[in-house]
Amino acid sequence: MEQNRGNFGSRLASILVAAGSAVGLGNIWRFPYELGRNGGSAFLIIYIMCVVFFGVPLMISEFAVGRHAQSNTARAFGMMGGSRYWRWVGFLGVLTGSLILCYYAVAAGWTVEYLFLAGVDGFAGKTPEQFTTDFNSFVSDPVQPIVCMIVFMLLTLFVILAGVEKGIERGSKLMMPMLFIFIVLLAVGSSMLPNGEQGLEFLFSPDLSKVTRSTLLSAMGQAFYSLSLSMGCLATYASYFRREDRLVSNAMNVAWIDLLVAVLASVIIFPAAFSVGVEPGVGPSLVFITLPNVFQQVFAGSPLLCYAFSLMFYLLLVLAALTSAMGLLEVPTIFMKEEFHIRRRWSAIGVTVFAIVVGMACSLSMGLWSGFKIAGMNLFDTFDFFTAKIMLPVGGFFAALYVGWFCDEPTLRGEVTNEGTTAVRFYPIYRFLIRYIAPLAILAIFLNQFGLI
Ligand code: PHE
Repeated sequence: MEQNRGNFGSRLASILVAAGSAVGLGNIWRFPYELGRNGGSAFLIIYIMCVVFFGVPLMISEFAVGRHAQSNTARAFGMMGGSRYWRWVGFLGVLTGSLILCYYAVAAGWTVEYLFLAGVDGFAGKTPEQFTTDFNSFVSDPVQPIVCMIVFMLLTLFVILAGVEKGIERGSKLMMPMLFIFIVLLAVGSSMLPNGEQGLEFLFSPDLSKVTRSTLLSAMGQAFYSLSLSMGCLATYASYFRREDRLVSNAMNVAWIDLLVAVLASVIIFPAAFSVGVEPGVGPSLVFITLPNVFQQVFAGSPLLCYAFSLMFYLLLVLAALTSAMGLLEVPTIFMKEEFHIRRRWSAIGVTVFAIVVGMACSLSMGLWSGFKIAGMNLFDTFDFFTAKIMLPVGGFFAALYVGWFCDEPTLRGEVTNEGTTAVRFYPIYRFLIRYIAPLAILAIFLNQFGLI
């Protein structure tokens, strides 16, 4: 394998880059709407269980596989021992990540439009109903969202072409802390809105009677999606980790940062939704309708503050989407480079063009082509459903089988514990979770969904 693949410069950098990939639209856009659709607090509890019982163990596993292999994901899965056929787990990851990129780019394009609107003070004086109709007419427009998506993809391409240290590392180190500060400030502001307590209650008072089959599947899909599991991204990034980086603590840090941002985003969204009378279960439009409302209301007395905050927040939302999309683009890029010997630049451009073309179809499915449905869903929702709720868990199931049962155990232990120097006491717990709990939990949720148990 090629020697000088690039490395992240410090432990903090490794954590921030992995957290940069994890924290994105999945936390701020997808988590709240899935939570809203699935009954609120009950979803939150199940989600946390998914993160603990198989999210973190799978993340540690992907880190171990990736750092050990020092290569792209597809090759990595065969390199810890076992049959060569395990490489297919890696291929599946690359495929899933590439498909996610296509519709992720569409939603990220919406954030670009909202950044633009914030910049020209386009939210001023609008009512909640206007925000709803404006959003719906924007996403169903045949041209505008596509232009925004292309702008976003070109930005992502630009960072990826800048390379591992200069692009990915520097970008994440700058953007992640800023995003965090803004989210905390807004969460405080939003929870003080009139009727805000209703939103907090929806979020935090558990009502397990609301748990249905689809709650379980949705929470599992969301955990995979949000933690960037099973799409080769973490394994690819781990191949740029240094030998002294501690995989277990890195994984735990990424997981809690990711969870915290998702919860804080919900603390922003739900009080605001209840305050302006938006249904919590409206779906993907939730964030785009409630957020501008939050700004209008929290800063009602001061138009300048309102302007500044909206602008900063959408800027950071675009940046959060960007640090995640970088991960999604990097995986197929380095895969094509190392497997087919295509130059980095050309493989990145090729993947970008693919994402834009397929993304156009996803975008049009919200308007012009909305009549075309697969199992009752438009193309955008179909992509989301198949990737997050089917392909990711299937990939995770096989990754757990590989790491738990078929790879070379001493090599795995050496990698996870840095040759016995760290996390030694945690290792047996991890091993138990990845061997038994992770595969069984994923299988049980699937069987349950299809009514078999
Ligand atoms: N985890 C990202 C998010 O929450 C999405 C993503 C998945 C990014 C996979 C990179 C790789 O938005």
